[in-house]
Amino acid sequence: MTDFSTIYKLSLVALWCFIHASSCSCPLLECWFVQEKKGRGGGLTGATTQEKTLLHIRKDEHDDSAESSRAPSDINPDRIYVITDPAEALCHRSFNPPRGSIKKPQCEVNPFLPQPSSLAWVHSLTEKAFSPVYLQADWFSASFQGVDEQRGVSTITRAPSGTKQHSVILSLTSRTMSAQARLGEPVTLDCSFWADPLSPLSEMGFAVEWRYKFRGDGRLVLAYDGKTDRLADTVEEGATLDFEAVHQRGNASLTLQEAKVRHSGTYICSVYLPYLLAQVAMELEVVEPPSLSIHPSPLPLAVPGQVLNIQCEASGFVPLPVDLSWEFKGADGKTRSLGPASMSGHRQAWDGTFSQSTRLQLDTSKLDLGRGGELTCVAAHRGGTRRASVTLSVIGFSSPSIEDSMAMVGVALVLYGLIKFASWTFTSSGSDETTKPDKDK
Ligand SMILES: *[C@@H]1O[C@H](CO)[C@@H](O)[C@H](O)[C@H]1NC(C)=O
Repeated sequence: MTDFSTIYKLSLVALWCFIHASSCSCPLLECWFVQEKKGRGGGLTGATTQEKTLLHIRKDEHDDSAESSRAPSDINPDRIYVITDPAEALCHRSFNPPRGSIKKPQCEVNPFLPQPSSLAWVHSLTEKAFSPVYLQADWFSASFQGVDEQRGVSTITRAPSGTKQHSVILSLTSRTMSAQARLGEPVTLDCSFWADPLSPLSEMGFAVEWRYKFRGDGRLVLAYDGKTDRLADTVEEGATLDFEAVHQRGNASLTLQEAKVRHSGTYICSVYLPYLLAQVAMELEVVEPPSLSIHPSPLPLAVPGQVLNIQCEASGFVPLPVDLSWEFKGADGKTRSLGPASMSGHRQAWDGTFSQSTRLQLDTSKLDLGRGGELTCVAAHRGGTRRASVTLSVIGFSSPSIEDSMAMVGVALVLYGLIKFASWTFTSSGSDETTKPDKDK
């Protein structure tokens, strides 16, 4: 059943694209319409309802291809909307995957209530009295996540009351929905906004806010009032915004000069227009692979039968866990694993990085180590695999090699032959004197 309806929908999209080849880069999106349930007496209960909804995205109002296509049967016709997106934030291919692909863009639509904000850096936007006629309309906020998992868009749309023809008034795009950074490197969290220049709100100014969240904990990273060109007092050290880019291109990307362990977490980019707010939340993970050191290094010369205690320490890595193991490469060039070793508990350093070690008890008599080779500690980590090696030298022969055994057999044979020969010449030359008295007895 579901397969059939998917095929049906896909062929609809295909047909729609075929007829209107020029507009098929803007997608037809299937989303969830989520709103709070109205309780008895009109209050909100806190519970939500979810309904399937279909959004026809188009670049301009003259493109009426959307209305001509029929809706899938499982979607309430009242929940089918047309959204005009002149900035084409939603027309990126990440929201329009090729037909038949398993991954679909994610999206959610919510009713939105325009209201002034009391935040210090937003307050100036709604100081001037504004005719509320423009605000009296149907407003939605929607969030979209592309199939490449790096692109996220958030929109505020407006439709004249009672119609289903929405226009994007404010859109926010991020291309770093899940960012990764090495420790100490600069990192940019991407966030750009577009405000409809035809909207009376867009000339009244804007504000940008970056907030950090981690396990329920939050803090303001940076806030900028674009109308008065003022930065809020609390700005996190090393966090910057390119003010020129914000004003000229709506590029509100946040740059952290030096990634630290405590920077890992969720960042919320919020852009305010008077009465409106759009937000995109992105993840930053600071990842640093471990540095390895082996003790003792260099290793002392080992004699067969000796047990060596060798320690490998992984330090300066983040996040947990790390997997440590040992490898041995003999004189024959073959590498074999000595298996996982017992791990110590982890410790955390002042900068938030971790260290952990492993100890190898190397019994030189039990393992066929030959004359030695290269001993390697291998650390497998999210940030990459790291290796450190030491040279192991075993003196004397713990167990002879095949060549050695063959040589010994050869030497033994030669010696045996020599003795045999010597005894033969000796017995034959001295037989007269030695054998005769024996026979006489
Ligand atoms: C915004 O600016 C940052 C640098 O500050 C840059 O890395 C990013 O690509 C820009 N974004 C866009 C959409 O141009």
